[in-house]
Amino acid sequence: MSEAVDSIELPVYPQDYALQTQRLRLHALSESDEAGLWPLVSDSRLTPFLAWEPHRSIEETRGMVAALVDAQREGRGFHWAVSYDQQIIGLVSLIDVRRRHRSWTLNRAELAYWIGLPYQGRGYATEAAVAVTEFGFGVLHLHKIRVYHAADNPASGRTIDKLGFRFVGEERDAFQKDGVWHHLRHFELLSREWAETKGISTP
Ligand SMILES: CC(C)(COP(=O)(O)OP(=O)(O)OC[C@H]1O[C@@H](n2cnc3c(N)ncnc32)[C@H](O)[C@@H]1OP(=O)(O)O)[C@@H](O)C(=O)NCCC(=O)NCCS
Repeated sequence: MSEAVDSIELPVYPQDYALQTQRLRLHALSESDEAGLWPLVSDSRLTPFLAWEPHRSIEETRGMVAALVDAQREGRGFHWAVSYDQQIIGLVSLIDVRRRHRSWTLNRAELAYWIGLPYQGRGYATEAAVAVTEFGFGVLHLHKIRVYHAADNPASGRTIDKLGFRFVGEERDAFQKDGVWHHLRHFELLSREWAETKGISTP
């Protein structure tokens, strides 16, 4: 059973957000991360399924980081810069954090992630997402985390498989990008299901 929403105390931003995994360091995104992110977010191979276009200038990266940091300070979203060997390699987030809707308790968020092209295929997304999922349930006391992937993005689908999220269904024509409609596969995980799947294997 999740903790009552009114009794949840958020950790202090940014100092309480640092996470360490076997190979990776995750820290609360801050303005000083823009230079590390810029080479990754300006690569057009990263974004075919993302809701934004490759950045054409570091000012765009600055604007994105500023918006995410604002969301983080207000508790609407939580964003971690992921580093390997002191190099930023990607971003993992809990977005669309919703505690209530009118008289309903929701207490849920959406997991989102990307890993820069040079660093993909080494298990980093899975390893970082495990740590963020643990934080979502253990520290933010979320009741449910959702995650989605485009049906034609199998790398993300495989990442979600490895995390152990439960398939909910497929939404048809969920978004259009570059003139093509994409179906979106929906997954979710409850805090009690997460507790049962602990011991998940990451490389
Ligand atoms: C999806 C993404 C985050 C995965 O990052 P990653 O660090 O490479 O992920 P991992 O190494 O932890 O796992 C990826 C898995 O997908 C598999 N995979 C990669 N490409 C694949 C493909 N074309 N078809 C099937 N599986 C594929 C890998 O083999 C690996 O599985 P394995 O460990 O069983 O071998 C990364 O590809 C990415 O950032 N893509 C662009 C942004 C994006 O799509 N974000 C998700 C939006 S929903």
